[in-house]
Amino acid sequence: MRPIVTVTPIIVGSRCGRCRHGRQRVRPADREYIRNPWRCRHSTQRPRARLLAGGMTWDHDRMSSPSSSGQDVRRRFLDQRRQINVTRMNTLFAAGYDDHWGHINRSHAEFIGRFTTILAPGDEILDAACGTGKYWPTLHRADLRIIGVDHSEAMLENARAKDPTVSTQCCALQEVAAIPEFTGRFAGLICVDAIENIGPEDWPRTLGGLRSTLRQSAPAYLTMELPDPADKPDPPDDPAAPLVNGEVLDGGAYHYYPAETLVAESLDSAGFRVIHAGEGDGYRHLLCIA
Ligand SMILES: C[S@@+](CC[C@H](N)C(=O)[O-])C[C@H]1O[C@@H](n2cnc3c(N)ncnc32)[C@H](O)[C@@H]1O
Repeated sequence: MRPIVTVTPIIVGSRCGRCRHGRQRVRPADREYIRNPWRCRHSTQRPRARLLAGGMTWDHDRMSSPSSSGQDVRRRFLDQRRQINVTRMNTLFAAGYDDHWGHINRSHAEFIGRFTTILAPGDEILDAACGTGKYWPTLHRADLRIIGVDHSEAMLENARAKDPTVSTQCCALQEVAAIPEFTGRFAGLICVDAIENIGPEDWPRTLGGLRSTLRQSAPAYLTMELPDPADKPDPPDDPAAPLVNGEVLDGGAYHYYPAETLVAESLDSAGFRVIHAGEGDGYRHLLCIA
């Protein structure tokens, strides 16, 4: 790992991307929660993981057999979590995403600003896991052309409704390298508040895939969600799930929080050099060069 050149001091602000427990703690009944998943998930009466995960939970007996290797079981688990994320985004979160998380946090805005200043007007960039296209107005103001990918068709529909000029594709971060016309195409990419959904086994393929879409020396703005030290440990959502170190199942969601050294090694192996890093709003922000 090459050295980080500059570090931005910690910025304190509201966390984006998922609900954290706080003053407005509520105890929603299952139906209420499904209708309004934006309410706090830290409740003794919160719905069962199954309801929050589109009816899917990890059934260890069904998903493994005596002859299954640990690797097979993990593969099935991660594939299921990916499917659960698509279902959650499509059915629970897409409809109200912009109302609840449509704002741009200060630290995210700062890094988007740094990213855009490296690029030239007219450059084409990839917004990987673009969601509803929250950053598109800012990117357009910098005269950038955008292609968006996300694995949730409902999130993409919202993005397209707001800005039909941006071309989008329904594609998982793990599969970006399989799109031939993306190879070496982009002058830059952003992947904001999404990598925490990728399991450790899929990191090399995902980061390598993102890198493969970039031209030499192109900038990439990536965020890594940080575990919140204020979180009280929840009862495990899915006690039989084959979790590894750094993985959390919480409120129906899966997140992976690798150690900073592992992030650095993974970026280095994928061909990213970090040129600026900072923390704020619950995320570590990394501005990299391919
Ligand atoms: C918290 S939202 C962030 C969206 C957008 N980047 C933003 O900052 O507003 C996370 C997005 O990542 C997408 N996502 C999660 N896992 C993904 C994966 N494996 N492949 C593609 N998209 C994924 C979700 O569908 C969702 O749109």
